[in-house]
Amino acid sequence: MTSLPTHRANSREAVPSMADKAALIDVLCGAARILPVITIEREQDVLPLADALAAGGLHTLEITLRSEHGLSAIRTLREERPELCVGAGTVLDEWMLAEAEAAGSQFIVTPGCTAELLRAGVYSPLPLLPGIASASEIMLGHALGYRRFKLFPAELCGGVRAIQAFAGPFPGIRFCPTGGVKPDNLRDYMAQPNVMCVGGSWMMDKDWVRRGDWQRIQDVTAEALALLV
Ligand code: 3PG
Repeated sequence: MTSLPTHRANSREAVPSMADKAALIDVLCGAARILPVITIEREQDVLPLADALAAGGLHTLEITLRSEHGLSAIRTLREERPELCVGAGTVLDEWMLAEAEAAGSQFIVTPGCTAELLRAGVYSPLPLLPGIASASEIMLGHALGYRRFKLFPAELCGGVRAIQAFAGPFPGIRFCPTGGVKPDNLRDYMAQPNVMCVGGSWMMDKDWVRRGDWQRIQDVTAEALALLV
């Protein structure tokens, strides 16, 4: 059996408590209110895209590992834009978690959860926001100390009504709905007391990125944040 590249179960390295990591997620993502989910198709887009989002008001960025440029984009941003907060998204297993940590990620987002990945997240020094789509998955995470979750794909798995329904059995749990969130439903999600932030990619349409229309990305970002004032 292949061994994990980084496995901290036996490590002496200090790892923050799950409560401290939930508090950190509140600071990083909750304060940001919108978490842009970024997939880099061309290396040259990394800095201008991050700069456009930052100029529009978003300083906490999720870089997905679903493209070949994901890890290098995280490294580039950590070196070149230390004022931004950069997390890794689309982390699917413990190996990807280890790679994301090594690249300098400051937080981790996953689209769903496996018992192995959730356990690895407990031993990680980084806060991990697990993706869930059901009460059972929240319970799996809850048993390990997770209190912050990404609801994904939010619009397809119940949207605002699912968030409202989860408030009953899961007091103290807060969500980042992602998947189908757009300016026309953004405020409905953010009006829910158990929503800490929303995630999405609508502010960086692929065509705008390919054309280098950074001003439009900045403007759409700023308009979205203005909806939340
Ligand atoms: C994600 O992985 O979180 C989604 O791709 C973001 O969803 P959206 O593209 O519908 O905003």
